[in-house]
Amino acid sequence: MDASLFQSRHEAFIEQAESSLRLLTPASTTRPERLHEAMRYSLEAGGKRLRPVLCLASAAAFAPQADAAHAATALECIHTYSLIHDDLPCMDDSDLRRGRPSCHKSFDEATALLAGDALQPLAFELLATGYASRPTLATALVRELALAAGSKLLVGGQTEDMDGQENDADRIEFILLGKTAAMLSASFAMGAMVGGASAVDVEHFRLAGRASGIAFQLVDDLLDLTADADQLGKPVGADAENGKSTYVDMHGIGATKERIEALTIETVGHLRATKGDTAFLVELVRRMSARRT
Ligand code: IPE
Ligand code: IPE
Ligand code: MG
Ligand code: MG
Ligand code: MG
Repeated sequence: MDASLFQSRHEAFIEQAESSLRLLTPASTTRPERLHEAMRYSLEAGGKRLRPVLCLASAAAFAPQADAAHAATALECIHTYSLIHDDLPCMDDSDLRRGRPSCHKSFDEATALLAGDALQPLAFELLATGYASRPTLATALVRELALAAGSKLLVGGQTEDMDGQENDADRIEFILLGKTAAMLSASFAMGAMVGGASAVDVEHFRLAGRASGIAFQLVDDLLDLTADADQLGKPVGADAENGKSTYVDMHGIGATKERIEALTIETVGHLRATKGDTAFLVELVRRMSARRT
């Protein structure tokens, strides 16, 4: 896809993601105000909006029968909660997120914990409300997001990331899949579902998301070693400081880059195997593997 066409479509998807987020989440003046201020502080802090963009673009690749806005916003709510909790002193103890003080620094630990708590049911409320007229779709979306965010994937990956110290290939794969790839997989799959894709194509999107999600976390781990905090909007060197052993520690930078490349090829293969118009998504996953922020 031509670079300027990609750019304008990407900007349009980000704008759509951000306006849905503003429209569909409670205003900061809602009681209790401090809680809602904290939720919006973290939601509106920017970020790449990758998950909602993947969801919107995956829906648009087919012939959507419903609006993907609620699904996209639900994904960003779960992702944002996971970042708020990830930064807490009892987890990665990180003071900077999305170029601003982390939620618990701008507010306080209890408020950050509660803001993260509240973002989780909000995600499922959005799905149940937004797709109420399509109960089969609503149930499938709730299931997809609940599985990705649950104890076997996102929270499970975060758990093993917290307590594992030694290099262990199986543990590292579990963490990559759980803490990161599961939500990217859900983003692709939920978008495809809203788009009315066949079950076979939804599965291709799920697998595309899984491969690109593993690549995404490998890039994150590389950037933690090689980028600077201004570029990233979050501290660098955090993994070493927290005693985390990553895929990069185990295999080295060269082999990690080779795996990112292989995973990107795998992602593109799944996208191209479907009946969807995936030119934008193919370009996006290629750019994700070369990202610097
Ligand atoms: C950060 O995710 C956490 C990881 C899974 C690496 P992003 O890099 O997508 O964070 P934002 O949403 O752009 O802030
Ligand atoms: C984050 O992993 C995964 C989730 C928040 C679920 P990291 O701890 O590597 O993410 P960053 O580097 O703080 O964004
Ligand atoms: Mg972490
Ligand atoms: Mg972290
Ligand atoms: Mg990281």
